Amino acid sequence: MRNTTRSYGKAARSLHWLTALLILTAIPLGLYANALPVDGAEAAAAKAAVFSLHKTLGIATFFVALLRIAYMLTETRPAPLHPERRLETFAAEATHWLLYLSLLAVPLSGWVHHAATSGFAPILWPLGQDLPLVPKSESLAAAASALHWVFTKLMAAAILLHVAGALKHALIDRDSTLARMLRGTPAGQTHASRATKPLLTALAVYILGAGLAVALIPPAPTAQAPQTATSGNWQITSGTLSFSVSRLGTAVEGSFATWSAEITFDPEAATGNHVTARIDTSSLTLGAVTDQAKGPEFLNAALHPTAIFTAEITADGTAYLATGTLSLHGISQPLTLPFTLQITGDTAQMQGTATLDRRAFQIGTAYPDEATVGFPVTVSIALTATRR
Ligand code: HEM
Ligand code: HEM
Repeated sequence: MRNTTRSYGKAARSLHWLTALLILTAIPLGLYANALPVDGAEAAAAKAAVFSLHKTLGIATFFVALLRIAYMLTETRPAPLHPERRLETFAAEATHWLLYLSLLAVPLSGWVHHAATSGFAPILWPLGQDLPLVPKSESLAAAASALHWVFTKLMAAAILLHVAGALKHALIDRDSTLARMLRGTPAGQTHASRATKPLLTALAVYILGAGLAVALIPPAPTAQAPQTATSGNWQITSGTLSFSVSRLGTAVEGSFATWSAEITFDPEAATGNHVTARIDTSSLTLGAVTDQAKGPEFLNAALHPTAIFTAEITADGTAYLATGTLSLHGISQPLTLPFTLQITGDTAQMQGTATLDRRAFQIGTAYPDEATVGFPVTVSIALTATRR
């Protein structure tokens, strides 16, 4: 069961080959999931299923890796077979450390990406989809995604070197390196003295990799204050236009960064109060599915760059209604937005919520049921405006 300075015991060998099997399954699943197209409900469901499998397997790998690393740190490690070949021994050991670091960094970066975003394929377990200390944040998700991308490449390079080394020992040197890990055959020195340089080298490679990943992070879309409309007697000073839609059974929060509203409103007037809001559909963000939501299957921002809501404002006591028409995705439909309003001096604060049915605007017609994307979309607007 146990290691000696000349051999790997059954426990170490089982852990080695179990991690190798898990990793060599997780990598192709990740590549395959990423390459699968999303066009229509069936393709989206298939892609999500492969991603769910990838993530679940990746997390299983992480826990096996923790066990394996704890075992490695507390158990005797067999000595290098040819310590006199200094460069080769250094390369082998640095690669082993790179592999150990990868076993932690790759699944962790994937997991943080998953926990920081929303609307993504779920992990197949009942323990929840969030991680403690990881907030929902698109910029954190983008950073973790870049790290996962770079770290998977480092890991793949280390595995290639590692396997090439194992094959070289088996085919060229014809020594017992591979037999030691396959069958537990004892070989090599009885005295193990471990150098720290290979570990430091592996750490340095990882730090460089993390630096490269940070440089690769795409710039986050900057949230803009709602733009000033040219007419109307109120000027918006701050506001948010957000929405919520169900994807794969969980709510995803989205928002539009660029929009403007022209508000003509006199609290004393019974008629003539109205609003025209213009929304730049390309400024949308929606968790992990931003590009898909802006693409031809959903909002088609390239073809329909602006959504417009024009409405008359009426009041019934303290309850306000904006009743009018929303033009979205090239289709106009009636829409009523109930809202609350507080006016203090020259400052007004309004908040309103309305629920649309995406089918009424022919959005996502390739998704005819609610398995991937729900029908109702709850839109919320909150703004502060000052009187001009
Ligand atoms: C040892 C475990 C893992 C390995 C070897 C691995 C490997 C990979 C690979 C090779 C890719 C494709 C990257 C590319 O397209 O070049 C990928 C993508 C991805 N993986 Fe993993 N992964 C692991 C664990 C995880 C875990 C635990 C999660 C989440 C819980 C995760 C989430 C993702 C996601 C979301 C992507 C899509 C690409 C992106 O980050 O935007 N992975 N993974
Ligand atoms: C087909 C694929 C693989 C082969 C043929 C292979 C072969 C070997 C061999 C022969 C050794 C012993 C080296 C020695 O005694 O000096 C070894 C050790 C090791 N392998 Fe692999 N391996 C494979 C895949 C992997 C994978 C995918 C990982 C992890 C991502 C991995 C991680 C390690 C580590 C960390 C050690 C060092 C063990 C220690 O601490 O002493 N191997 N491997």
